[in-house]
Amino acid sequence: VTQPPDPIPRTVEWADGAVRLIDQRLLPGELCFVDCRTVDELCQAISSLAIRGAPALGAAGGYGVALACSGAVAGGASAPAVAQAAAGAAARLIATRPTAVNLAWGARRVLAVAEIAARGGLDLSAGGDASGDAEAVARAALDEAEELAAQDVADNRALGHHGAALVPEGAQVLTHCNAGALACVGYGTALGVIRAAAEAGKRPRVWVDETRPVLQGARLTAWELDRLGIDATLVADVMAGSLMASGDVDVVVVGADRVAANGDVANKIGTYSLAVLAAHHGVPFYVAAPTSTIDLATPDGAAIPVEERSPDEVRRVGGARLAPDGVAALNRAFDVTPAALVTAIVTELGVAHPPYDKSLRRLVEAAPHRRPLRTP
Ligand code: MRU
Repeated sequence: VTQPPDPIPRTVEWADGAVRLIDQRLLPGELCFVDCRTVDELCQAISSLAIRGAPALGAAGGYGVALACSGAVAGGASAPAVAQAAAGAAARLIATRPTAVNLAWGARRVLAVAEIAARGGLDLSAGGDASGDAEAVARAALDEAEELAAQDVADNRALGHHGAALVPEGAQVLTHCNAGALACVGYGTALGVIRAAAEAGKRPRVWVDETRPVLQGARLTAWELDRLGIDATLVADVMAGSLMASGDVDVVVVGADRVAANGDVANKIGTYSLAVLAAHHGVPFYVAAPTSTIDLATPDGAAIPVEERSPDEVRRVGGARLAPDGVAALNRAFDVTPAALVTAIVTELGVAHPPYDKSLRRLVEAAPHRRPLRTP
């Protein structure tokens, strides 16, 4: 099926031998692209949130490993040395942000293909002509990264379609952070659900949490919904309870950075508070995430590493100081919502309901090609 042109450009792609990203630090002011020509540049882009959001990080991880391979080939490396460079790059990329499991998933998937190609075992891109030469390794890695990125958009459309069925006609939907096209390669997860509901003519109205401290909701989600022509109202995070109490929230839909095997969900800080409020007010709380975000190797939320970022993100906004520079500030980037507070988890393969230990395993096992080929 041919899709109409997307009003939001692709977040990350391979262009002119580099990883090209929308620089999300500059939105909503400017829509600019940045080319990362080395793995170090890409690591810096990830750490500084030029690219962010779990599925986008998965694609960036994959492209980053492909970038390391092409750089090694340009430097005259042998096939085993290219695979070694890929392994080093994967480790550096994975270390940049610990919570979103997609980053490790994407990097490891492409690394696994590079390692197989380096052994001369399976060069998918060359149609089986597997010589184990350096260029074949780089080509196989890039093909896998491209495949992973393309799959992301297709998966999000499928996820959106499943999730839209959960959104009532004319619903008031509250979302947190940015789980839109900008957080993925395209289309979005939580915003994908909202988008698919809008495309189905359900006319959702969206409450956009501003999402302190980095303001992904105000800067990115509001920008996306405006471009998509979906009714959106920006609110301070602290307003969620009041909105639910006045009966103005029909559903909450958020994304995820990692879903543990038992259904506990790590997502942007503030998500847990929303889930508690939603449970109190009897509002359904949906998590939208592709199966690549489900980590069966992490048994529960307590085992999910939660990134802590610079306290300056709390003390300042942009260049402006909000608090005395010397004041102590704590900046946990994510929190964990217990599975008991999650009404359902929407994936590209369907909707998982409690008990999640069973339903999530079933879904992931139905998607073997999306699991890492190798776990270090
Ligand atoms: O720190 P960020 O901006 O990378 O955090 C992003 C989120 O928490 C998103 O909700 C999550 O990655 C899901 S994106 C589809």
